[in-house]
Amino acid sequence: MERKLQISIRDFKNKLDAGKIEFMFDLRNEDEFESWHIEGSTPVETLNIPQVDFVGEEESHLDRLPRDKEIISICAHGDSSKYEAELLQEKGFNIVSLEGGMDAWSEFYETRKLEGIPEIYQIVRVAKGCICHVLIDNNEAVVIDAVRHINHIEDILKKGNAKLIAVFDTHLQADHISGGTDLANKYDVPYYISPVDAEKASYTYSAVTDGTSLTFGSSKLTCSASPGHTPGSVSFLCNNRFLFTGDTIMKSSIGRPDLGGMVRDWAHLLYITLFKRYDQIEDSIMILPSHAMAALQEGDNQGIISLTMKEFRNSQAFSLKQEQEFISFIEKSLLENPERYQEIRKVNLGLLDPDEDKRRELEIGKNLCGMQKS
Ligand SMILES: [Fe+2]
Repeated sequence: MERKLQISIRDFKNKLDAGKIEFMFDLRNEDEFESWHIEGSTPVETLNIPQVDFVGEEESHLDRLPRDKEIISICAHGDSSKYEAELLQEKGFNIVSLEGGMDAWSEFYETRKLEGIPEIYQIVRVAKGCICHVLIDNNEAVVIDAVRHINHIEDILKKGNAKLIAVFDTHLQADHISGGTDLANKYDVPYYISPVDAEKASYTYSAVTDGTSLTFGSSKLTCSASPGHTPGSVSFLCNNRFLFTGDTIMKSSIGRPDLGGMVRDWAHLLYITLFKRYDQIEDSIMILPSHAMAALQEGDNQGIISLTMKEFRNSQAFSLKQEQEFISFIEKSLLENPERYQEIRKVNLGLLDPDEDKRRELEIGKNLCGMQKS
């Protein structure tokens, strides 16, 4: 029987969830691997040998590959890993290549549903940790932080027989290209974003500001300004039960305030938001963030990524109650600020319109919107 050379992303993810991925062999260059590689909910043994070092020198590396485990070979687009999988199968290894490579992994989505009113669908772009929420009540839907691949949102609207009435972005995204304007234009509904973040936008939009509210079905969404991650960041409280915080509060981090290059000013805004503006939010409110630092590790047993306000108040970030120590923590823990983020911001302002290949390239890598865990 002919052996399978590739594993689909879906099958790979199922195995990853079941803890059945035994060994990954990543053939990308070291810097690409270091900046971004596949991580499961529990650690998976992974070997990185750049293909340029491996090809033609296979024999000298073979003892680093296990003969008693299934190996998944991985590369950027799925071609090199397939080539090496074929070669290594001939040498007796149990190996298959991840179909589509990291490109496909980057664009893999999963949707989960929270029961209640409204119905909330959480669409997670697993590798990047981007999270979009679709809220439906009485066949009316709103979308918060639309992902670029809007077909995942449209599937939910179709299945829920829901009419889209508004699209919101909690802030001007820097790590990924928003699907907000595409979605709003396609369905001819308003696209809401803060005028502070969208000041330079080339498109027309509806302004969302502190106190803006919108009713859909029997549910109500109310906006509160929560500047810091960006100066125009907003949060949405829904039915006094759910708080959509964008990137301001995440499950295991807070939104970094340096992506616009004004660390101290934006950190001050973030401090005011976290310690003063959110003061009235009850402990029991469920926070639904728009980003995860590591989506596969942050989901509950249903895969839902959320936390309560109480959990946030018990977090390390919230223990830094003095503004000066909070700002010092921010300044000490900053990650790189990739140049491509400036380009992504321009795309999200409608100032650049790259082709699909370029869009994909800009989005490579996990999101770096959160403070690193210290
Ligand atoms: Fe962000």
